[in-house]
Amino acid sequence: MNSAQNAPNSPKLTPNMGLKHRNTFGFEVCAELAYEITAAEQIPGLMQQIAEQKLPWRVLGGGSNVILPKLLPGATLLMNIPGQEITQSDESNALITVGAGVNWHEFVSWTIEQQLPGLENLALIPGTVGAAPIQNIGAYGAEVADFIDSIEAFDTVTHAFVTLPKEACRFAYRDSYFKQNPHRFILTKVAFKIPKAWEPRLQYADIAKQFSATDAKPTVQQIFTAVCNIRSQKLPDPKVIGNAGSFFQNPIVPDQQYGDLLKQYPQLVSYPDQAGMRKLAAGWLIDQCGFKGLRAGPVGVYQNQALVLVNHGDGTAEDILGLAKSIQDKVREVYGVQLEIEPNIF
Ligand code: EPU
Repeated sequence: MNSAQNAPNSPKLTPNMGLKHRNTFGFEVCAELAYEITAAEQIPGLMQQIAEQKLPWRVLGGGSNVILPKLLPGATLLMNIPGQEITQSDESNALITVGAGVNWHEFVSWTIEQQLPGLENLALIPGTVGAAPIQNIGAYGAEVADFIDSIEAFDTVTHAFVTLPKEACRFAYRDSYFKQNPHRFILTKVAFKIPKAWEPRLQYADIAKQFSATDAKPTVQQIFTAVCNIRSQKLPDPKVIGNAGSFFQNPIVPDQQYGDLLKQYPQLVSYPDQAGMRKLAAGWLIDQCGFKGLRAGPVGVYQNQALVLVNHGDGTAEDILGLAKSIQDKVREVYGVQLEIEPNIF
């Protein structure tokens, strides 16, 4: 790998890098060969060498949606590509291109400073801009897909850069073409299209509650602050308690199954979904099974939100996955519903 280090476009290599601070669970992790990717041009040469040497590899953004083992063998690409720029602006839209390594929340804050509102409901979500489209991050009635124009990525199958328009990204709830094809694309740049006509998105109950006392239309800043406050109350700060946000997806079940469950459990919390389907609140199911606040050795279920699993200290991937399995087993036994793990297991 030394030749990659000496080549003009070579990324910085650190052997045996500790990644405790680059995964929000705070697991002790050692990356055998950690490459800091600061420009897209560094990728083709590096990927060629990785392919020649048949090394295992993966890309790490902010590490906020991953479950990492103690050792990451082969190459770990730390996605640090910077930069954000308004590339076009007319009466209808602004186009912004952003490096995949930019911190998501800092980007959201910057758009609001630039008087380009739209992303405020997605404030304070941990992670990077490049990771956001992969799981189509969403919160409080908005999804990143709503604002994406196109994505630039390195295709490791064809060994060429591609620009995928939004339609090719096949976004769905916590899903995308990139998530469906793991290990194929390395996202390098995201182009956002922010409409100039702005309307507050207040339909989500937690947000609606904050503004129910007044008829006045809230400002962007007020919504941004409300979202930050709600998230801080409900979700643990990874700097204080290790976690990866929602640990399970909200399961989507056929109407028939939902109807049967509702008869048995009239308090069941759910949301409308595509025709014939219903999205259940996984947090409610887990809470009802008595897991909220539970501790299992060094890991546990967060006391304020049953959908969040936490690392209280020196937990490991095995500890978290063991706890996850007991939750999945119990929820399946009681409700007949399979919970899918949301973070990527490396
Ligand atoms: N609930 C409980 N007990 C709990 C947690 C939740 O009964 O311990 C019930 C409550 O009735 C609540 C409902 O479940 O009204 C839904 O909970 P909440 O509003 O907190 O949202 P969520 O469905 O748990 C989803 C996203 C979050 C996102 C929020 C707000 C998923 C998997 N999670 O959580 O995303 O912030 O909505 O939009 O879709 C993430 O993906 O990491 C994440 C935090």
